[in-house]
Amino acid sequence: MTIIRRSGAVAALLLTTGLVQAAGDADRGATIVMQGDGQGGAPCLACHGTDGAGNDAAGFPRLAGLDAGYLAAQLRDYRDGRRNSPVMAPNAAHLSDQQIADVAAYYALQTTRLMPAEQPADLLVRGEKLVKQGDWDNYIVPCESCHGTGAQGVGATFPALSGQHPTYLRQQLEAWKNGTRSNDPNQLMLAIAARLSDEQIQAVSAYLSQQPTQGSKP
Ligand code: HEC
Ligand code: HEC
Repeated sequence: MTIIRRSGAVAALLLTTGLVQAAGDADRGATIVMQGDGQGGAPCLACHGTDGAGNDAAGFPRLAGLDAGYLAAQLRDYRDGRRNSPVMAPNAAHLSDQQIADVAAYYALQTTRLMPAEQPADLLVRGEKLVKQGDWDNYIVPCESCHGTGAQGVGATFPALSGQHPTYLRQQLEAWKNGTRSNDPNQLMLAIAARLSDEQIQAVSAYLSQQPTQGSKP
């Protein structure tokens, strides 16, 4: 709960989004990752890998090193229908809160190192500007103001974006824009995504995918 040091506003957000939860057991989580939940959910490794690397072309997000509280909140949202994905819904449908905490603890501990695909230099320049300075003409605040320095993530509320696959990042920003993802607390992301142009989405996704992350220790 180091996040509480940051500001009262962030602490209040944490409390209102109900992130207090059971402690996860990464060893029990590993069994679900490798064998499934025994109730029809596929083994997570089929798409996210045992190391949480995911797959860019397939749109499977990297989970390695993401905050356990964030991972668990997203899994509960899939299970309870607050976040829509025909692919993820059946895998989360039968997980108990404890099983969710366990798989979240497992993936949060992974330290996969990815080799991101190269991206065009002009996209990287525009993406970096959005992340660090925003686009004030269009009322877009810097991504870093919520997602932290280097978009490394802040607590359970603001996920790390650095080192995430560009296809997944782009798909999520588009999902907010077209209304298919709406599980963010206080619509914080909707307000940002709605103002991003398609070109800005491309640029920021390209840039973020290239950045080192806490989940990729050498
Ligand atoms: C058949 C492939 C598949 C399987 C199996 C699968 N996932 Fe996923 N997962 C996906 C896809 C695709 C998404 C992105 C869905 C979206 O757009 O919301 C995703 C998203 C997620 C997210 C959200 C990540 C984020 O950054 O918000 C979490 C957490 C997650 N999966 C955990 C799991 C766990 C734990 C399991 C095993 C119990 C699992 N997944 C099994 C394909 C899969
Ligand atoms: C006002 C705060 C705020 C700002 C500024 C912000 N975000 Fe977010 N963002 C959030 C929150 C909160 C979430 C988690 C949503 C949830 O819980 O489902 C999020 C989630 C995301 C996700 C989904 C990550 C995942 O793993 O599924 C992406 C992608 C994203 N933000 C991109 C951006 C980009 C790019 C910018 C800058 C252009 C930005 N955000 C600026 C608050 C913010």
